[in-house]
Order: sequence, then C-alpha cells, then structure tokens
Amino acid sequence: MRKLLIISLTILAVLTSCSNKNEKTDTPRLILSYADNQPAQHPTTSAAWYFAALVEKYTDGVISVEVYSDGQIGSEISVYEQMKFGGVDFGRYSLGILSQFYPDLAVLELPYLYEDSDHMWRVLDGEIGSYFLSKTADSTTIALAWFDAGARSFYTIEPIVELDQLEGKKIRVQEIDLMARFVEPLGVTAEKIPYGEVYSALQRGIIDGAENNIPSYYYTGHYQAATHVYLDEHFRIPELLMMSGAARAKIEALGEEYLPIIEECAAKAAEYERILWKKAESDSLSKVLEYGCTVVLPTAAEKEEMRQLMTPIYEEYSEYADIIEKIRNT
Ligand code: GCU
Repeated sequence: MRKLLIISLTILAVLTSCSNKNEKTDTPRLILSYADNQPAQHPTTSAAWYFAALVEKYTDGVISVEVYSDGQIGSEISVYEQMKFGGVDFGRYSLGILSQFYPDLAVLELPYLYEDSDHMWRVLDGEIGSYFLSKTADSTTIALAWFDAGARSFYTIEPIVELDQLEGKKIRVQEIDLMARFVEPLGVTAEKIPYGEVYSALQRGIIDGAENNIPSYYYTGHYQAATHVYLDEHFRIPELLMMSGAARAKIEALGEEYLPIIEECAAKAAEYERILWKKAESDSLSKVLEYGCTVVLPTAAEKEEMRQLMTPIYEEYSEYADIIEKIRNT
C-alpha cells in the first residue's frame, strides 16, 4: 500500500514536471503512438500513461508518446500487424495473441504451467524470460518488457457452481486457434471473438460466457453482462510491451542517447504495472462482489480434473520439454 502511494506520488511528480517540459525544446521532435486495447483505467493503460510521462521527462520533451486506449487503433491482432509495418510505434500485447506470430511463446502460457504469480515472475525475470524476449526481436518488432496479466478464469451468464456445468457452454476465447484448443477439452464450445466485441456478444446472448483475468472482467464491464465467476485460474498469460522496428530507427536517428532512455522507461513502466496489477486484482474482485456477482471457487478435486483435461496439450510441445522442465523447477 505504502509502496503504491510512493509510486503514485512519483507519477504525480513526473506528470507535474512534464507540464513544464520542453526546457530544451518547445515541440517534440518525435511523436510516437502507443496502443492498448484495454479501457483507460485498466492497469496496463495506466502503465502506458506512466511510460509516456517518463519518456517526455527523460528526453526533455524531445520525444512525446501518445497513448490510444480502448482499442481505438483496432483489435490486438490488427494493431500488431500495423506495428510490423511501422503504423503503430508501441503496443502492449497478450501472449495469447502474440503466440500466433511467434509460436514458441505458447510455451509460456500453457495451462497450469505456473504454481502462482511469484513462480511466473521468477521465470520471466530469469534467463527463460530473457531468452523469450530475445526471440521476439527482429527487424520489425522488439519486445521491451513483460507485463502482468494475472490468471484467467471463466465467467458466465448462468451460474456455474460445478465443473460439469461448463460442458456445452459457448465460451469466448482470444481469437486464435490455440486458445480454443486449450479450453475445448473441458467440453466447452470455444468462440473466437475479438476482445472489443465480447461485451455485446454477452449482452446479446451470442455466447454463454468468456474467460479472462478479474481486472479485465471488471474494467470492461463484462461483470454486468455475465455475473457468475468460476475462479478456476486455468492459465496465466503474460504480456509484452513492444516497439516497432520503424520506431526504433526513428529514435536512433535522434541520437544514440535516446534508445537506452526508452528502454529504461519501458522497464520502469513494467515495474509500475506489476504493482498496479496486484492492487487491481483485489480491488476488482471487491467491486464485482459489491455489484452482486457470485464467485465460486472450484474444489480441489475439480481443479485436479481440469488439470488432467487441459494438460495433454503438453504432448504437442515435446520439443520444449527441457524448457518446460526448467520452468517447473524455477
Ligand atoms: C487480456 C489482455 C488483453 C486481451 C484480452 C483478451 O485482458 O490484457 O490484451 O485482449 O485478455 O481476452 O482478448
């Protein structure tokens, strides 16, 4: 709590000093875009604003970052595609989407891979995390830092109080095949729908439910359309803050000092996001309970059954057996 307060004060200081920015330049020499598909109050978007404030401060206003939240620039997939061609400079992406472009990344989001959040962070902060960061760097996109996105659970319009009741339900998943294949062994029908369309799909009854982390469930308002949570935490899907190769070239053209500043600001924004995330998880849960949502915790036997059903997919990742083993032992 205290840490959060200190960070909030730091942000305030950064933002205040930014209003007096441009001591060296009156107008930024470079304006870069940053896309996030989450609502403005969501922790990942707050981290985006923080990143923008840091960049303005530490480049003395030479570089300015404009944040586009709420999927204003398009769905996550389309933003990523635009980024590859330099149409977007920075973006925050779920590995759920990125593993479509970098199939290796799927290893980091397998069901029941991590014991808990600390375990995931030990992996991402260690050599395995660095290895996968470097794997996503090419001439078109560069991964800058890991963001937290907690654990995902199911939420539905009708109550799910036992695992068996998931059977036959139409559940929205991220719009790539692998995500469908992850959940189908539970007997659900996976519907691949872009994130921005989930609320209306729930409202119109096109789907029976969806799955996501609790802050996203809350900040998108999905909790008003699907009021029953089955808090099974079936997987953790980390996220990446990325920069386009075109943005890197523009930054480098300003002078060699700028790229390290951007990298440092990204690292700081990621640290900040992790702190915000912890608070958002508990606050969002309280908010949805206050609203009247029900939250059911699966029994240990149900959790085990889910694990048994969802983990055979590991067999398809036998070439990564060593890495998976290392992750397990981290
Ligand atoms: C998470 C993630 C989003 C993603 C969404 C989804 O909330 O932060 O970037 O789009 O999941 O389920 O599509």
